[in-house]
Amino acid sequence: MLFPMKEKVVLGFSGGLDTSTAVLWLQEKYDLDVITVTLKIGQKEDFGNIEEKSKLLGAKKHYTIDALDEFADKYISKCIKANGLYEDKYPLSTALARPLIASWLVKIAKQEGASYVAHGCTGKGNDQIRFDITIRALDPKLKIIAPVREWNMNRDQELEYLKAKGFDFKPSRSRVSVDENLWGRSIEGDILEDPSAEPLEDYFEWTVAPEKAPDKSTYVTIGFEKGIPVELNGEKMKLSDLIVTLNSIAGQNGVGRIDHMEDRAIGFKSREVYECPAATCLIEAHSELEKLILNRNQLFFKKLVEKEWSWLVYAGLWADPLRRNLEAFIDSTQDFATGKVTLKLYKGGYRIVSRSSQYSGYDLNIATYSFKSIFDQKNALGFIEIWGLPTILSNLKSGGGDE
Ligand code: ARG
Repeated sequence: MLFPMKEKVVLGFSGGLDTSTAVLWLQEKYDLDVITVTLKIGQKEDFGNIEEKSKLLGAKKHYTIDALDEFADKYISKCIKANGLYEDKYPLSTALARPLIASWLVKIAKQEGASYVAHGCTGKGNDQIRFDITIRALDPKLKIIAPVREWNMNRDQELEYLKAKGFDFKPSRSRVSVDENLWGRSIEGDILEDPSAEPLEDYFEWTVAPEKAPDKSTYVTIGFEKGIPVELNGEKMKLSDLIVTLNSIAGQNGVGRIDHMEDRAIGFKSREVYECPAATCLIEAHSELEKLILNRNQLFFKKLVEKEWSWLVYAGLWADPLRRNLEAFIDSTQDFATGKVTLKLYKGGYRIVSRSSQYSGYDLNIATYSFKSIFDQKNALGFIEIWGLPTILSNLKSGGGDE
């Protein structure tokens, strides 16, 4: 053959500044044919526009993959069952989507016979860890290129690079770096780099300012079946639709803003702001339903498992067999996680006001203070005697009590 075929690289492409620069740079620096891939997972973008941009930049082929239901049914549903919150706050929205995107990059690389995959992550974040480890776990032969980690260009230099190549790139007006999908919106950078600075109001897009939320409270009732939300305010819905609807209802009430100090897997602290209206409500509702159904021993142990699961997902270890082992336990706790929970939303606040289930472990005949109680209070005496024995004995020996 006169002109040997170039090798191919499959690039995860958002259409933003970093990955646009990467399309040009991969052609120039590595002399590769670039195939771009964009997953539709609930981000508010013009996907036709993204495809056009990719072609203009010289990509040989572009894939737009509608992975919204796959994201909801195979990733988010697991997070709900696990009450997945990193450091008790972050519902893992960005973290959950990375292994899904990585799996599609690998799938398309196989289909196209590409020996390289590329992503637009920096060398400072968690996302590079999530992409690299998932890709290597799925296909260790693939070579990974992370242009942003390699080239050391800042924003202005990237714009200049594009300009020199004849592309007048219009960067987004936003001063913050945003990552968005069905499960939430992550906001980083600008004044948020000062942990003491309050986020500016215009950083938020999914939630109204609590002060501007309606003066009347809004009730939402979520129906669960075996741990999965299946019904919203009496209407059966598939999970992705339910989350879209709930994002809007909770967002209009200013619910779902999260502002916290986060310990990155790469080792340093960063200040992170999120908008996760549906995730906040669903995890709260799901864990409350479990409190009605699971017993004390199950709840206590499940908390430990939830923490470990959240850490694995956060730290890029989605592919680790331990995640599946933990999920086997989690799934076994969801057999009876069926019922309804009502939340009352009001000006940025949310509160559970009702829960019910045919599998409720609550027994009114035992718990009631009325004359109907069947609980024999005299039994408490013997229980306390034996339960307190080690504590009472130790205190006898040491003379007892605090000074
Ligand atoms: N800190 C979050 C996480 O690690 C959000 C990352 C946001 N990523 C981004 N490219 N803006 O999951």
